[in-house]
Amino acid sequence: MNIVVGVTGGIAAYKTVQLVRLLIKGGHDVTVIPTADALRFVGTPTWEAISRNTVTTSVHDDVARVRHVALGQAADLVVIAPATANTIAKMTAGLAEDLLGTTLLATTAPVAIAPAMHTEMWRHPATQANIATLRERGVRILGPADGELTGGDSGPGRMLEPEEIHTAALALLAPQDLAGRTVVISAGGTREPIDPVRFLGNRSSGRQGAALAAEAAARGAQVTLVAANVAADVLAAAKHPLVDIRAVGTAAELGKAMADAAASADIIVMAAAVADYRPAASADQKLTKEDGVLDRIDLVLNEDIVAGLAASRREGQKIVAFAAETLTDADERRARAARKRERKGVDLLVVNLADAEHGFEKPDNAVEVLGAGGAVVASAEGSKREVAGAIWDAVAADQG
Ligand code: CTP
Repeated sequence: MNIVVGVTGGIAAYKTVQLVRLLIKGGHDVTVIPTADALRFVGTPTWEAISRNTVTTSVHDDVARVRHVALGQAADLVVIAPATANTIAKMTAGLAEDLLGTTLLATTAPVAIAPAMHTEMWRHPATQANIATLRERGVRILGPADGELTGGDSGPGRMLEPEEIHTAALALLAPQDLAGRTVVISAGGTREPIDPVRFLGNRSSGRQGAALAAEAAARGAQVTLVAANVAADVLAAAKHPLVDIRAVGTAAELGKAMADAAASADIIVMAAAVADYRPAASADQKLTKEDGVLDRIDLVLNEDIVAGLAASRREGQKIVAFAAETLTDADERRARAARKRERKGVDLLVVNLADAEHGFEKPDNAVEVLGAGGAVVASAEGSKREVAGAIWDAVAADQG
Protein backbone atom coordinates (compact mmCIF):
# COMPACT_ATOMS: atom_id res chain seq x y z
CA MET A 1 0.00 0.00 0.00
CA ASN A 2 1.05 3.62 -0.62
CA ILE A 3 1.07 5.39 2.71
CA VAL A 4 1.75 9.08 3.24
CA VAL A 5 2.98 10.01 6.70
CA GLY A 6 2.59 13.73 7.41
CA VAL A 7 4.77 15.03 10.21
CA THR A 8 4.08 18.41 11.80
CA GLY A 9 6.02 20.58 14.22
CA GLY A 10 5.88 18.90 17.60
CA ILE A 11 8.48 17.18 19.76
CA ALA A 12 6.59 13.89 19.34
CA ALA A 13 7.95 13.85 15.76
CA TYR A 14 10.84 11.73 17.06
CA LYS A 15 8.37 8.94 17.82
CA THR A 16 7.05 9.05 14.26
CA VAL A 17 10.41 7.67 13.09
CA GLN A 18 9.37 4.42 14.77
CA LEU A 19 5.93 4.56 13.10
CA VAL A 20 7.58 4.85 9.67
CA ARG A 21 9.90 1.93 10.53
CA LEU A 22 6.93 -0.26 11.43
CA LEU A 23 5.14 0.62 8.19
CA ILE A 24 8.26 -0.10 6.12
CA LYS A 25 8.69 -3.43 7.91
CA GLY A 26 5.10 -4.26 6.93
CA GLY A 27 6.08 -3.90 3.26
CA HIS A 28 4.38 -0.55 2.63
CA ASP A 29 5.68 2.19 0.36
CA VAL A 30 5.93 5.18 2.69
CA THR A 31 6.35 8.81 1.68
CA VAL A 32 7.05 11.18 4.55
CA ILE A 33 5.85 14.77 4.14
CA PRO A 34 7.14 16.95 6.96
CA THR A 35 6.09 20.57 7.40
CA ALA A 36 8.91 23.11 7.57
CA ASP A 37 8.45 23.28 11.35
CA ALA A 38 8.66 19.50 11.71
CA LEU A 39 12.17 19.59 10.22
CA ARG A 40 13.34 21.59 13.26
CA PHE A 41 12.67 18.46 15.32
CA VAL A 42 13.74 15.67 12.97
CA GLY A 43 15.62 16.42 9.75
CA THR A 44 15.27 15.30 6.14
CA PRO A 45 18.16 12.76 6.18
CA THR A 46 16.46 10.76 8.95
CA TRP A 47 13.12 10.65 7.11
CA GLU A 48 14.76 9.72 3.80
CA ALA A 49 16.91 7.01 5.34
CA ILE A 50 14.05 5.45 7.25
CA SER A 51 11.37 5.72 4.51
CA ARG A 52 13.75 5.04 1.57
CA ASN A 53 11.90 7.75 -0.39
CA THR A 54 12.67 11.33 -1.31
CA VAL A 55 11.39 13.83 1.23
CA THR A 56 10.22 17.34 0.34
CA THR A 57 8.04 19.88 2.08
CA SER A 58 7.34 22.45 -0.60
CA VAL A 59 4.91 22.41 -3.51
CA HIS A 60 7.74 23.82 -5.63
CA ASP A 61 9.89 20.68 -5.48
CA ASP A 62 9.65 18.08 -8.23
CA VAL A 63 7.05 20.17 -10.08
CA ALA A 64 7.45 18.15 -13.30
CA ARG A 65 5.76 15.18 -11.65
CA VAL A 66 2.99 17.36 -10.16
CA ARG A 67 4.04 16.06 -6.81
CA HIS A 68 1.68 18.41 -4.94
CA VAL A 69 -1.33 16.38 -6.05
CA ALA A 70 0.27 13.12 -7.23
CA LEU A 71 1.15 11.96 -3.71
CA GLY A 72 -2.39 12.48 -2.47
CA GLN A 73 -3.95 10.84 -5.53
CA ALA A 74 -1.73 7.76 -5.21
CA ALA A 75 -2.12 7.37 -1.45
CA ASP A 76 -4.11 4.48 0.00
CA LEU A 77 -3.83 5.99 3.46
CA VAL A 78 -2.64 9.27 4.97
CA VAL A 79 -1.47 9.41 8.60
CA ILE A 80 -0.46 12.65 10.32
CA ALA A 81 1.61 12.17 13.43
CA PRO A 82 2.05 14.30 15.36
CA ALA A 83 -0.81 16.59 14.36
CA THR A 84 -0.37 19.98 16.04
CA ALA A 85 -3.24 22.34 16.89
CA ASN A 86 -2.02 24.58 14.06
CA THR A 87 -2.08 21.77 11.50
CA ILE A 88 -5.51 20.66 12.67
CA ALA A 89 -6.80 24.23 12.15
CA LYS A 90 -5.20 24.38 8.69
CA MET A 91 -6.72 21.03 7.71
CA THR A 92 -10.13 22.21 8.84
CA ALA A 93 -9.84 25.36 6.73
CA GLY A 94 -8.49 23.40 3.76
CA LEU A 95 -5.32 25.47 3.48
CA ALA A 96 -2.89 24.36 0.79
CA GLU A 97 0.23 26.38 1.51
CA ASP A 98 2.67 23.47 1.63
CA LEU A 99 3.03 19.94 0.24
CA LEU A 100 1.16 18.37 3.15
CA GLY A 101 -1.78 20.78 2.67
CA THR A 102 -2.10 20.10 -1.07
CA THR A 103 -1.72 16.35 -0.52
CA LEU A 104 -4.58 16.38 1.99
CA LEU A 105 -6.84 18.22 -0.45
CA ALA A 106 -5.95 15.94 -3.34
CA THR A 107 -6.52 12.64 -1.59
CA THR A 108 -9.66 10.54 -1.33
CA ALA A 109 -7.89 7.97 0.84
CA PRO A 110 -8.73 7.54 4.51
CA VAL A 111 -6.95 10.08 6.72
CA ALA A 112 -5.94 9.50 10.35
CA ILE A 113 -4.39 12.08 12.65
CA ALA A 114 -2.63 11.63 15.98
CA PRO A 115 -2.97 14.96 17.81
CA ALA A 116 -0.18 16.07 20.15
CA MET A 117 -0.30 19.32 22.13
CA HIS A 118 -0.67 20.76 25.58
CA THR A 119 -3.90 20.03 27.41
CA GLU A 120 -5.07 23.66 27.29
CA MET A 121 -4.62 23.76 23.52
CA TRP A 122 -6.41 20.44 23.08
CA ARG A 123 -9.34 21.56 25.22
CA HIS A 124 -9.65 24.98 23.59
CA PRO A 125 -13.05 25.37 21.90
CA ALA A 126 -11.35 26.24 18.59
CA THR A 127 -9.42 22.95 18.57
CA GLN A 128 -12.45 20.97 19.72
CA ALA A 129 -14.62 22.55 16.99
CA ASN A 130 -11.96 21.76 14.38
CA ILE A 131 -11.71 18.17 15.59
CA ALA A 132 -15.51 17.80 15.40
CA THR A 133 -15.48 19.10 11.81
CA LEU A 134 -12.67 16.78 10.76
CA ARG A 135 -14.38 13.81 12.40
CA GLU A 136 -17.58 14.68 10.55
CA ARG A 137 -15.62 14.68 7.29
CA GLY A 138 -14.45 11.17 8.02
CA VAL A 139 -10.98 11.91 9.41
CA ARG A 140 -10.11 9.38 12.10
CA ILE A 141 -8.80 10.98 15.28
CA LEU A 142 -6.32 8.72 17.08
CA GLY A 143 -5.94 9.82 20.70
CA PRO A 144 -4.54 11.91 22.21
CA ALA A 145 -3.59 9.95 25.32
CA ASP A 146 -3.74 11.27 28.83
CA GLY A 147 -0.21 11.44 30.22
CA GLU A 148 2.98 13.32 30.86
CA LEU A 149 3.62 16.27 28.53
CA THR A 150 6.88 18.01 27.57
CA GLY A 151 6.65 20.87 30.06
CA GLY A 152 6.42 18.44 32.98
CA ASP A 153 2.66 18.94 33.14
CA SER A 154 0.26 16.13 32.48
CA GLY A 155 -3.23 15.62 30.98
CA PRO A 156 -4.81 14.79 27.64
CA GLY A 157 -2.61 15.89 24.73
CA ARG A 158 0.12 13.26 24.57
CA MET A 159 0.54 11.57 21.19
CA LEU A 160 -0.36 7.87 21.12
CA GLU A 161 2.58 5.48 21.00
CA PRO A 162 3.78 4.61 17.47
CA GLU A 163 2.65 0.99 17.82
CA GLU A 164 -0.89 2.13 18.68
CA ILE A 165 -0.99 4.57 15.76
CA HIS A 166 0.32 1.84 13.46
CA THR A 167 -2.46 -0.61 14.40
CA ALA A 168 -5.29 1.95 14.35
CA ALA A 169 -4.18 3.53 11.07
CA LEU A 170 -3.82 0.24 9.22
CA ALA A 171 -7.29 -0.76 10.38
CA LEU A 172 -8.55 2.16 8.29
CA LEU A 173 -7.51 0.62 5.02
CA ALA A 174 -11.01 -0.08 3.85
CA PRO A 175 -11.85 -3.65 2.97
CA GLN A 176 -12.54 -3.83 -0.76
CA ASP A 177 -15.71 -5.84 -0.11
CA LEU A 178 -17.83 -3.77 -2.50
CA ALA A 179 -15.34 -3.88 -5.39
CA GLY A 180 -17.14 -4.56 -8.68
CA ARG A 181 -20.56 -3.79 -7.15
CA THR A 182 -22.86 -1.07 -8.45
CA VAL A 183 -24.64 0.88 -5.77
CA VAL A 184 -27.37 3.55 -5.94
CA ILE A 185 -27.92 5.77 -2.93
CA SER A 186 -30.51 8.50 -2.48
CA ALA A 187 -29.78 11.35 -0.09
CA GLY A 188 -31.30 14.59 1.15
CA GLY A 189 -34.92 15.63 1.22
CA THR A 190 -37.37 16.30 -1.58
CA ARG A 191 -39.05 19.66 -2.05
CA GLU A 192 -42.55 19.79 -3.44
CA PRO A 193 -43.33 23.19 -4.99
CA ILE A 194 -46.37 25.12 -3.88
CA ASP A 195 -45.54 28.11 -6.08
CA PRO A 196 -42.26 29.54 -7.46
CA VAL A 197 -41.06 30.60 -3.98
CA ARG A 198 -42.50 28.04 -1.56
CA PHE A 199 -42.21 24.34 -1.09
CA LEU A 200 -43.15 21.49 1.23
CA GLY A 201 -39.93 19.98 2.50
CA ASN A 202 -38.17 18.36 5.41
CA ARG A 203 -35.00 18.78 7.45
CA SER A 204 -32.85 16.06 5.92
CA SER A 205 -29.38 17.48 5.08
CA GLY A 206 -28.16 14.50 3.05
CA ARG A 207 -25.14 13.97 5.32
CA GLN A 208 -25.83 10.31 6.05
CA GLY A 209 -26.40 9.57 2.35
CA ALA A 210 -23.20 11.39 1.37
CA ALA A 211 -21.28 9.42 4.01
CA LEU A 212 -22.76 6.16 2.69
CA ALA A 213 -21.60 7.10 -0.82
CA ALA A 214 -18.08 7.98 0.34
CA GLU A 215 -17.76 4.77 2.35
CA ALA A 216 -19.11 2.60 -0.49
CA ALA A 217 -16.62 4.15 -2.91
CA ALA A 218 -13.78 3.66 -0.42
CA ARG A 219 -14.74 -0.02 -0.36
CA GLY A 220 -14.55 -0.21 -4.13
CA ALA A 221 -18.18 0.22 -5.28
CA GLN A 222 -19.25 2.20 -8.33
CA VAL A 223 -21.74 4.64 -6.80
CA THR A 224 -24.58 6.76 -8.12
CA LEU A 225 -25.65 9.31 -5.52
CA VAL A 226 -29.08 10.76 -6.25
CA ALA A 227 -29.02 13.95 -4.20
CA ALA A 228 -32.24 15.79 -3.39
CA ASN A 229 -31.46 19.38 -2.40
CA VAL A 230 -28.12 18.58 -0.76
CA ALA A 231 -25.83 21.55 -0.04
CA ALA A 232 -22.49 21.69 -1.85
CA ASP A 233 -20.44 21.43 1.37
CA VAL A 234 -22.30 18.24 2.31
CA LEU A 235 -21.82 16.75 -1.17
CA ALA A 236 -18.10 17.52 -0.92
CA ALA A 237 -17.83 14.62 1.56
CA ALA A 238 -18.86 12.25 -1.24
CA LYS A 239 -16.29 13.52 -3.72
CA HIS A 240 -14.59 10.40 -5.11
CA PRO A 241 -13.71 9.16 -8.60
CA LEU A 242 -16.17 6.28 -8.16
CA VAL A 243 -19.11 8.51 -7.16
CA ASP A 244 -21.43 9.97 -9.80
CA ILE A 245 -23.77 12.62 -8.35
CA ARG A 246 -27.20 13.37 -9.84
CA ALA A 247 -29.10 16.33 -8.40
CA VAL A 248 -32.88 16.17 -8.16
CA GLY A 249 -35.58 18.33 -6.54
CA THR A 250 -38.97 16.70 -6.19
CA ALA A 251 -40.11 13.20 -5.21
CA ALA A 252 -41.14 12.58 -8.83
CA GLU A 253 -37.64 13.50 -10.06
CA LEU A 254 -36.06 11.37 -7.34
CA GLY A 255 -38.26 8.43 -8.28
CA LYS A 256 -37.29 8.70 -11.93
CA ALA A 257 -33.55 9.02 -11.21
CA MET A 258 -33.70 6.04 -8.85
CA ALA A 259 -35.59 3.89 -11.35
CA ASP A 260 -33.05 4.74 -14.09
CA ALA A 261 -30.05 3.95 -11.90
CA ALA A 262 -31.67 0.91 -10.26
CA ALA A 263 -31.75 -0.94 -13.57
CA SER A 264 -28.03 -1.73 -13.27
CA ALA A 265 -27.67 -1.68 -9.45
CA ASP A 266 -26.68 -4.55 -7.20
CA ILE A 267 -27.60 -2.60 -4.08
CA ILE A 268 -30.11 0.25 -3.59
CA VAL A 269 -30.02 2.38 -0.47
CA MET A 270 -32.89 4.79 0.00
CA ALA A 271 -31.58 7.26 2.56
CA ALA A 272 -33.48 10.29 1.23
CA ALA A 273 -36.43 11.71 3.12
CA VAL A 274 -39.21 11.72 0.55
CA ALA A 275 -42.23 13.97 0.99
CA ASP A 276 -45.23 11.75 1.52
CA TYR A 277 -47.51 14.26 -0.19
CA ARG A 278 -47.18 16.99 -2.80
CA PRO A 279 -49.48 19.94 -3.51
CA ALA A 280 -52.14 18.87 -5.99
CA ALA A 281 -51.20 21.87 -8.13
CA SER A 282 -48.13 24.09 -8.19
CA ALA A 283 -48.94 27.70 -9.09
CA ASP A 284 -46.93 29.45 -11.84
CA GLN A 285 -47.16 32.75 -10.02
CA LYS A 286 -46.45 33.44 -6.36
CA LEU A 287 -49.61 32.94 -4.33
CA THR A 288 -50.59 35.88 -2.17
CA LYS A 289 -52.89 36.45 0.77
CA GLU A 290 -54.85 38.79 -1.47
CA ASP A 291 -55.82 35.85 -3.66
CA GLY A 292 -57.15 34.18 -0.52
CA VAL A 293 -55.76 30.78 -1.58
CA LEU A 294 -52.89 30.39 0.88
CA ASP A 295 -54.93 29.07 3.79
CA ARG A 296 -55.49 25.71 2.18
CA ILE A 297 -53.24 23.47 0.12
CA ASP A 298 -54.75 20.33 -1.39
CA LEU A 299 -52.32 17.44 -1.26
CA VAL A 300 -51.95 14.24 -3.21
CA LEU A 301 -50.03 11.19 -2.09
CA ASN A 302 -46.60 10.65 -3.64
CA GLU A 303 -45.70 7.24 -4.98
CA ASP A 304 -43.74 5.10 -2.47
CA ILE A 305 -40.46 4.96 -4.37
CA VAL A 306 -38.64 2.30 -2.36
CA ALA A 307 -41.70 0.03 -2.22
CA GLY A 308 -41.93 0.33 -6.02
CA LEU A 309 -38.24 -0.50 -6.46
CA ALA A 310 -38.63 -3.49 -4.12
CA ALA A 311 -41.69 -4.75 -6.00
CA SER A 312 -39.88 -4.69 -9.34
CA ARG A 313 -36.45 -5.74 -8.10
CA ARG A 314 -34.06 -7.83 -10.17
CA GLU A 315 -32.99 -11.25 -8.92
CA GLY A 316 -30.30 -10.83 -6.26
CA GLN A 317 -30.75 -7.07 -5.94
CA LYS A 318 -30.50 -5.92 -2.34
CA ILE A 319 -32.64 -3.03 -1.10
CA VAL A 320 -32.15 -0.95 2.03
CA ALA A 321 -34.62 1.65 3.31
CA PHE A 322 -34.35 4.18 6.11
CA ALA A 323 -36.81 5.31 8.73
CA ALA A 324 -36.31 8.31 10.99
CA GLU A 325 -38.26 7.69 14.15
CA THR A 326 -38.85 9.94 17.12
CA LEU A 327 -40.35 7.27 19.43
CA THR A 328 -37.99 7.03 22.40
CA ASP A 329 -39.25 3.68 23.66
CA ALA A 330 -36.89 1.22 21.92
CA ASP A 331 -39.38 -1.67 21.78
CA GLU A 332 -42.16 0.45 20.30
CA ARG A 333 -39.70 1.94 17.82
CA ARG A 334 -38.47 -1.49 16.71
CA ALA A 335 -42.01 -2.88 16.36
CA ARG A 336 -43.09 0.07 14.22
CA ALA A 337 -39.93 -0.21 12.12
CA ALA A 338 -40.40 -3.97 11.65
CA ARG A 339 -43.90 -3.32 10.27
CA LYS A 340 -42.47 -0.68 7.94
CA ARG A 341 -39.80 -3.10 6.68
CA GLU A 342 -42.48 -5.68 5.85
CA ARG A 343 -44.73 -3.12 4.22
CA LYS A 344 -41.97 -1.78 1.98
CA GLY A 345 -40.67 -5.23 1.08
CA VAL A 346 -37.01 -4.29 1.70
CA ASP A 347 -34.15 -6.50 2.94
CA LEU A 348 -32.85 -4.13 5.59
CA LEU A 349 -34.39 -1.13 7.31
CA VAL A 350 -32.05 1.34 8.99
CA VAL A 351 -33.86 3.03 11.85
CA ASN A 352 -32.36 6.28 12.96
CA LEU A 353 -33.30 8.02 16.11
CA ALA A 354 -34.20 11.63 15.33
CA ASP A 355 -33.68 13.35 18.70
CA ALA A 356 -31.81 16.40 20.00
CA GLU A 357 -28.33 14.88 19.51
CA HIS A 358 -28.85 12.63 16.53
CA GLY A 359 -30.33 12.53 13.07
CA PHE A 360 -31.45 15.47 10.95
CA GLU A 361 -28.90 18.26 10.50
CA LYS A 362 -26.66 16.77 13.23
CA PRO A 363 -23.13 15.44 12.65
CA ASP A 364 -23.80 12.28 14.64
CA ASN A 365 -26.27 9.50 14.14
CA ALA A 366 -27.51 6.48 16.11
CA VAL A 367 -29.02 3.61 14.15
CA GLU A 368 -30.33 0.09 14.39
CA VAL A 369 -30.50 -2.10 11.33
CA LEU A 370 -33.45 -4.48 11.12
CA GLY A 371 -33.22 -7.61 8.98
CA ALA A 372 -35.38 -10.68 8.35
CA GLY A 373 -38.30 -10.98 10.76
CA GLY A 374 -37.53 -7.51 12.14
CA ALA A 375 -34.48 -8.76 14.06
CA VAL A 376 -31.84 -6.16 14.98
CA VAL A 377 -28.82 -7.28 12.94
CA ALA A 378 -26.56 -4.29 13.69
CA SER A 379 -26.46 -1.10 15.66
CA ALA A 380 -24.07 1.83 15.56
CA GLU A 381 -23.60 5.25 17.06
CA GLY A 382 -21.07 7.88 16.06
CA SER A 383 -20.19 10.14 13.16
CA LYS A 384 -22.24 9.62 10.02
CA ARG A 385 -19.16 8.12 8.33
CA GLU A 386 -18.74 5.58 11.15
CA VAL A 387 -22.44 4.74 10.96
CA ALA A 388 -22.08 4.35 7.17
CA GLY A 389 -19.32 1.79 7.77
CA ALA A 390 -21.57 -0.22 10.09
CA ILE A 391 -24.45 -0.11 7.59
CA TRP A 392 -22.24 -1.45 4.77
CA ASP A 393 -20.96 -4.17 7.11
CA ALA A 394 -24.59 -5.16 7.73
CA VAL A 395 -25.37 -5.13 3.99
CA ALA A 396 -22.30 -7.28 3.29
CA ALA A 397 -23.29 -9.74 6.04
CA ASP A 398 -26.96 -9.96 4.95
CA GLN A 399 -27.59 -13.33 3.36
CA GLY A 400 -31.34 -12.88 2.94
N1 CTP B 1 -39.90 6.46 0.97
C1 CTP B 1 -40.06 6.36 -0.40
N2 CTP B 1 -41.10 7.01 -1.02
C2 CTP B 1 -41.98 7.72 -0.30
C3 CTP B 1 -41.85 7.81 1.11
C4 CTP B 1 -40.79 7.17 1.72
O1 CTP B 1 -39.25 5.71 -1.06
N3 CTP B 1 -42.98 8.34 -0.92
C5 CTP B 1 -38.78 5.72 1.61
C6 CTP B 1 -37.80 6.59 2.34
O2 CTP B 1 -36.77 7.02 1.49
C7 CTP B 1 -37.28 5.64 3.40
C8 CTP B 1 -38.47 4.75 3.69
O3 CTP B 1 -39.33 4.87 2.55
O4 CTP B 1 -36.24 4.83 2.90
C9 CTP B 1 -39.23 5.09 4.92
O5 CTP B 1 -39.63 6.43 4.92
P1 CTP B 1 -40.71 6.92 5.95
O6 CTP B 1 -41.03 8.35 5.65
O7 CTP B 1 -40.27 6.58 7.33
O8 CTP B 1 -41.90 5.95 5.53
P2 CTP B 1 -43.40 6.17 5.38
O9 CTP B 1 -43.90 5.04 4.56
O10 CTP B 1 -43.67 7.55 4.86
O11 CTP B 1 -43.92 5.99 6.84
P3 CTP B 1 -44.47 7.08 7.89
O12 CTP B 1 -45.93 7.05 7.73
O13 CTP B 1 -43.96 6.55 9.20
O14 CTP B 1 -43.85 8.41 7.52
